[in-house]
Amino acid sequence: MQSFTYHCPTEIIFGRGAEDAAAEKLRAYGATRVLVLYGGGSAERSGLLSRIECQLTSCGLAFLVMGGIQPNPRVSFVREAIREGLAADVNFVLAVGGGSVIDSAKAVAHGIANPAADIWDIWTHKVEIEKTTPFASVLTIPAAGSETSDSAVLTNEDTGRKVGLNSPLNRAVFAFMNPVLAFTLPRAQIAAGAADIMMHTMERYFTDVREANVFTDRVAEALIRTVMESAQRLLVSRKDYDAMSELMWCGSVSHSNFTELGRRKDFAVHKLGHELSARFDATHAATLTALWGSWARHVYQDEPARFARFAAAVFGVDAGTDEERARAGIRRMEEFFAAIEMPTSLSGIPEVGVLEPSVIEELADAATANDTIRLGTFRPLARADAHAVYEAANH
Ligand code: NZQ
Ligand code: ZN
Repeated sequence: MQSFTYHCPTEIIFGRGAEDAAAEKLRAYGATRVLVLYGGGSAERSGLLSRIECQLTSCGLAFLVMGGIQPNPRVSFVREAIREGLAADVNFVLAVGGGSVIDSAKAVAHGIANPAADIWDIWTHKVEIEKTTPFASVLTIPAAGSETSDSAVLTNEDTGRKVGLNSPLNRAVFAFMNPVLAFTLPRAQIAAGAADIMMHTMERYFTDVREANVFTDRVAEALIRTVMESAQRLLVSRKDYDAMSELMWCGSVSHSNFTELGRRKDFAVHKLGHELSARFDATHAATLTALWGSWARHVYQDEPARFARFAAAVFGVDAGTDEERARAGIRRMEEFFAAIEMPTSLSGIPEVGVLEPSVIEELADAATANDTIRLGTFRPLARADAHAVYEAANH
């Protein structure tokens, strides 16, 4: 096992009615003026937003509400929210929603605490920051894991880039996680969320670290199996509280870095996927499942035994050589993605489709900054590798 430091300070309040304690918790934390952020309207339609507003009012907290955050959240919204937040002198940011809202809240919190810097300069490390405004979330979708993660992802619509920022400052103070709030999710979002959670674990499972790491491996394998079972149950019945609880908790554990301890994450597929989201506004998880099989077939021969272990632990594939088991595991994973109606090639992503060769060239250039950076750790992908993965998925 490699040495590590693990600090995940986010307090989790989990279970039915968890968010009923939101205003009290905010007040106990010293919040007096709160900026509440939400997405495209699901939190309004479900009544969640007005319940939070009522709580804040009865606790005597001043607040400002801003909605309209889109999936693949945009830096323009964040800039506007920073301006509004500064004008209202807010001292806490509360996200009500999923990864897109929470990531925006993280960026807004950083911008408010560092008003002299443009948020995109912070995002691209032109300006390094040392402080943020405290923020928390009421989670409405098990997926991105932003409620506990140290990362956030923003799209700059002017430059067409989707960029992640990892920082300890990206850890929320607390997160309210009530599985019931996710009962209104459409089936497609349940499937996408489950796939993203699995990918957060798989992109930590396949790394360049060869030392034994038994506990982390077993946690990862159990988590993936649990997510697969829960997703299948939820696609039959969206209001299965037990299955939604498992999915929600797996999402937070997966991306809190817990499934990475003693390893080193890869995340090459995420980086390749972000290029597709930036260019086509494609759903995050769809970009991942569309590329994963192509990535896996491109790299597995670097360590077939690792893929064979995965196939045995997740799918019970125990016959054949490492090579045969590795290939069977990759095929079974793609079959699972297909069974939950997630794409396994670019043509399966509605916004993308089969791409012209010139577009594949541009994507490979963008992902690797014209072959100046390598992606991931299992096999650090050069431009030619990135091109090969996009090309293999282009059908
Ligand atoms: O916008 P509303 O109307 O709320 O609808 C949303 C949105 O359309 C809907 N939704 C959320 N909760 C709902 C609901 N609909 C009905 N009932 C509910 N309870 O779901 C749609 C997707 O929401 P979004 O927040 O975009 O989903 P997700 O949590 O998957 O977040 C995706 C974003 O997170 C980033 C992705 O790249 C993407 O931009 N990621 C963030 C990470 C992080 N911060 O650690 C890691 C991930 O790898 C990922 O990159
Ligand atoms: Zn993800």
